[in-house]
Order: sequence, then C-alpha cells, then structure tokens
Amino acid sequence: MRTTEEDLAASQDGVDRLPTLLDVEQAARAALPQDVWDFLAEGAGAEETLADNRAAFARWRFRPRVMSGIRLPSLATSFLGIDLSMPVLTAPVGADGLFHADGHRAIARANAAHGLVSLVAEASTFSQEAIRAAAPSAARIMQLHPTGTVDAFLERVQRAADAGYELLCVTLDCPTAGFRERGRRSGIMLDESVIGGNYGEGEDRNTFWGLLERGERVWTWEQFAELCARSPLPCIAKGVLTREDAAAAVDAGAVAVLVSNHGGRQLDGAPASLDQLPEVAEAVGGRVPILLDSGVRRGSDVLKAVALGATAVVIGRLMVYGLAAGGQAGVERVHQLLRDEMITTMALLGCETLAELGPERIQRAA
Ligand SMILES: Cc1cc2nc3c(=O)[nH]c(=O)nc-3n(C[C@H](O)[C@H](O)[C@H](O)COP(=O)(O)O)c2cc1C
Repeated sequence: MRTTEEDLAASQDGVDRLPTLLDVEQAARAALPQDVWDFLAEGAGAEETLADNRAAFARWRFRPRVMSGIRLPSLATSFLGIDLSMPVLTAPVGADGLFHADGHRAIARANAAHGLVSLVAEASTFSQEAIRAAAPSAARIMQLHPTGTVDAFLERVQRAADAGYELLCVTLDCPTAGFRERGRRSGIMLDESVIGGNYGEGEDRNTFWGLLERGERVWTWEQFAELCARSPLPCIAKGVLTREDAAAAVDAGAVAVLVSNHGGRQLDGAPASLDQLPEVAEAVGGRVPILLDSGVRRGSDVLKAVALGATAVVIGRLMVYGLAAGGQAGVERVHQLLRDEMITTMALLGCETLAELGPERIQRAA
C-alpha cells in the first residue's frame, strides 16, 4: 500500500496523459506488486469465464446507420432516478487499499467530478461513513453480502441508510469465495487491515466470509423477498445470470438487476455476462432497469451492453487500473477515455442519444 504523500504524487504524475485504457492498465501493472496484481487480475479455476467475458464482446458487431443527420452525441442517462453523465457506474471492490492509499474515497471523488456514482464495497479498507463523507454526491449505493438472519442483516442496511446511502446492492453470487488459483499460489493475505474498514475493534469483521464454514445456509429468494419488503433502502440484485434468477429477483422486489459473474472470480465455467444479457432482458421485460458487469474494458463494450438492453454498465478492474495508476486522477482518466471513445462510437453509429441505441443496432458476429 502506498503511504506517503510523495508516493501518491509520484503515482499520479503523467496519468492524465496516458493515451488509451490499455496504457492505464499497463501503468497499473507497473505500479502494483506481483501478488496484488494477481489478486486483481485473477479469475476462478482455469479462468475460462474470465477470458470469455472479454471474448463475448467480440462476438457482437454494431449495425451503423449513415446519413443520420445527428449532432454531437450525448451520453447522459439516468438509473433509478439518479442522473449519470454516461452509462457507467463503478463496482464494489473490496481490499481497495491494496491498490491505492485512498481506495474507494478516491473512486468516489473521481465519480463526483464526472457526474457518476459508486457502488461502495462492504469489504472496503475504509468505512462506508468515510467514503460517503469523501464525496456524498457519488457514494450513494452500498453493497452488502447477505449473511445471518434477515433481522441482523437489516441492522447493517440501517447503518448504510443512516450514513446517507440511497440504494442497497446485494451480492448474491458470493456465498463463498471462488477457487482462485493465482491467490493460492501467491499466498496473498487479505487481513482485516485491508477488508475490515466497516467493522470496529472486537466486531466480527468477516460476516461475508466463511458463511458455509460457519454452518450457515445460503440465503433463499424468500429471505431476499423479506429483505426487499422491510429494507429502508431499495435493493439491487447483483450476480444474476439466468432468466430464472432474473425473474425471481424482480418478483421478490429487486428494483434493478445486475447481470454479473463477478468478473469471472466466482464460478468458473459460468457464461459470459454479455451473453446472458438478452435472456435476462427478456425475462425482466422492462419491469426494472438492468446493469451489466464483467469484462467491460472500453467504450464500445459499454455501448454493446446498452444496445442489448442494459441501462448502464459497472466497471470493476478497469476502475481499479485507474486507481492503481494514479488514485483519483487515474480513475478520472479512465472515465475521460471511456467517454471520448463512446462519443466517437455513437457518432459513427449514427446515434445522438442512448435512447436510439437498441437491439436493431447490434448483431452477432459472423
Ligand atoms: C479485486 C476485486 C475485488 C472485488 N470485491 C468485490 C466485493 O467485495 N463485493 C462484490 O460484490 N464484488 C466484488 N468484486 C466484483 C466486482 O464488483 C465486479 O462484479 C467485477 O469486478 C466486474 O468485472 P470486471 O472486473 O471485469 O469489470 C471484486 C472484483 C475485484 C476485481
């Protein structure tokens, strides 16, 4: 972890001039120790799902229309009443202090500067209160792992509501950590100093870890429905990949569905998120907005997801590349490069607004 002001300044030097998102990724790799890089980059098992998340974007092609008469495209959109300057949110990523001394606080500040919103991780190095205080206009969605009784869980939700969060993101695909082999080899330790920011001295800091080992059962849709009915914050269901679970989440009261395989870090062999988006969109049938994450690395990826039915995407590793390369300035650089590529892509597609970007603008690659 970087600790001194000098190191921070050095890390940010030049990040504004990195010309592409790939350069930001390379700068992050150069900045991080090997075991931390492996923890960030790794997927579960043979990393087939990790690779497929990227490959899936190349399986789709745009259908551009020429002679469109458009003006400069706008990327503005909204998600559950929150205005976004572009269809991007940042992911809940735990152990954020491993990547930069400011972690989610820097991410939230970068989002505030760009009219974007953070999903804040329960397993952050920092407390949800400190992250919210760093940028109240951006730190608006709190992510939690469903464990324990619904009553006990609701106390954690109330804490987030008291801190000022407006929405809850419930991570459904993480009853146990995936079988990640790079981490097993490097032996990286995710101790309380990096994932325990939301738990005080003497508290159980690992409520989200080792649920099965403690003899608990994984939650059911009935418990999720009870949560949605009683929660002071509307609930987003994160980690849905099938039409069955998408329908169950909406029926249970989720206000949005996040199509995700956790960036390939959980079930290896799960399908790519993008490939599941059409079936989820069909099952949801416009009842709630859909988000997508896993594998988004460039502006055209975002627009492919929007064309296939997502209101917005969530960026995980891409955001962390910026964070590691230069803290707030690095995350801002990621946002700027995404925005620039999206504006160009929209212009070449002949779309002035995201509302014009629907299924008729995309097809399977031959
Ligand atoms: C280092 C790291 C830590 C993560 N920690 C969490 C977490 O604590 N809670 C959670 O719901 N998802 C977590 N995720 C998953 C992300 O929220 C998101 O689903 C994933 O990164 C999306 O894929 P992408 O990295 O390809 O964009 C983590 C991802 C990474 C890379």
